[in-house]
Amino acid sequence: MRSRSQVGIVGAGPAGLLLSHLLAQRGIDSVLIEIRSREYCEARQRAGVLEDGSVRLLREAGLAARLDQQGIEHGGIYLQFGGERRHLDFRDLTGRTVTVYAQTEVVKDIISRRIADAGPGAIQFSATDTEVADLDTDRPVLRYTSEDGVRYEVTCDAIAGCDGFHGICRPAMPAGTLTTVERDYPYAWLGILADVPPSTDELIYAHHPRGFALHSLRTPAISRLYLQVSPDEDIASWPDERIWAELSERFALPGWTLRQGPVLDKGITPMRSFVSSPMRYGRLFLAGDSAHIVPPTGAKGLNLALADVAHLAPALDGLLRGRPALADAYSATCLERVWRSTHFSWWMTTMLHQTPGADAMETQLQLSQLRYITTSRAAATSLAENYTGLPFPT
Ligand code: FAD
Ligand code: DHB
Repeated sequence: MRSRSQVGIVGAGPAGLLLSHLLAQRGIDSVLIEIRSREYCEARQRAGVLEDGSVRLLREAGLAARLDQQGIEHGGIYLQFGGERRHLDFRDLTGRTVTVYAQTEVVKDIISRRIADAGPGAIQFSATDTEVADLDTDRPVLRYTSEDGVRYEVTCDAIAGCDGFHGICRPAMPAGTLTTVERDYPYAWLGILADVPPSTDELIYAHHPRGFALHSLRTPAISRLYLQVSPDEDIASWPDERIWAELSERFALPGWTLRQGPVLDKGITPMRSFVSSPMRYGRLFLAGDSAHIVPPTGAKGLNLALADVAHLAPALDGLLRGRPALADAYSATCLERVWRSTHFSWWMTTMLHQTPGADAMETQLQLSQLRYITTSRAAATSLAENYTGLPFPT
């Protein structure tokens, strides 16, 4: 079946969902195709920290009703190393904060809003065999098979590839047009969601001889915790008791105990830095993880995806009205922020993790850097500025 839409969007993660909403607010229609089911998208455990700019963006887009009620504002973090836990006060250092609100909740909020605004067909969940074609023309084509088996061909004015790292849009760009820069890290994160109130008022990033650990949270009743593990680790060799014992050891401080509870979800995430550029070929634009991946330390992935889309919506609006300046600047504009976050995530990651086979020099350099950040206002401000995030486009 043939149809027409101004913008075709591949992928209903945070980037694709927010883009369809921002375009609708500008009077631009889009078709949004997602390979997974709605239930799967709403249950997928991922990021949890929203930068100041992400919160403002969602608020300005009218998507923050639940975020404003349930999000937990955090004015700092703890850095733990060498047997001490030291606080960094972001409010004092930058006047900015971050908000803990799970990516799953952001996704649920935008899905329900799109369906309320545009009807049950607003998002084509469980679509298969997605293809993008005619990329050398002004009318690129998006093809997919709907959940009920009908093959669609949608002629568009532009296509947004918001389909994540393993999607089809980036590989659809002709060979030789993209440059990719990539680094795999020799460790991974084992993450758990636990039915237990957090044992801390602010997130704890812990440097420990046995490996990095992070204590985060989702709600006043649910904790989210991570452990550095080897990239080839088998989740089956991590029963809940072993996870809690390891977390307790890496966070140990005299007079402080880690509360334990039932594990609701667990998984292992590999760690990679990856940037592909430019983020555009003709009228195919990439946004979010389809163009770049950061390791999770510092919580930048979700925020970068939202920032890309904050640029892409006005860029597509202009392009469709014959004013291509923002679209022409889109890739370079986004890549500025992408590289800043890529550096920050790499820096946080390498400062806090144990590299297999590292020598005493590496450990001492890490500890010196951690002492510097927690004693120098200038160094602390740099971390705080990057963590709370650069200003977003308005
Ligand atoms: P995604 O959320 O990946 O969305 C892409 C969507 O496209 C998906 O719904 C996918 O199903 C869909 N799709 C893929 N292929 C197709 C196709 N062919 N056709 C149609 N649809 C398709 N970041 C942090 O900041 N902190 C964290 O703790 C953290 N943990 C993470 C854990 C995991 C396991 C992963 C994978 C990522 C994590 N991230 C984390 C990164 C963060 O979640 C991502 O940066 C964010 O989801 C990016 O949003 P996105 O919309 O660009 O991509
Ligand atoms: C979370 C994830 C991160 O990568 C991080 O740096 C902080 C918090 C989280 O999932 O809550």
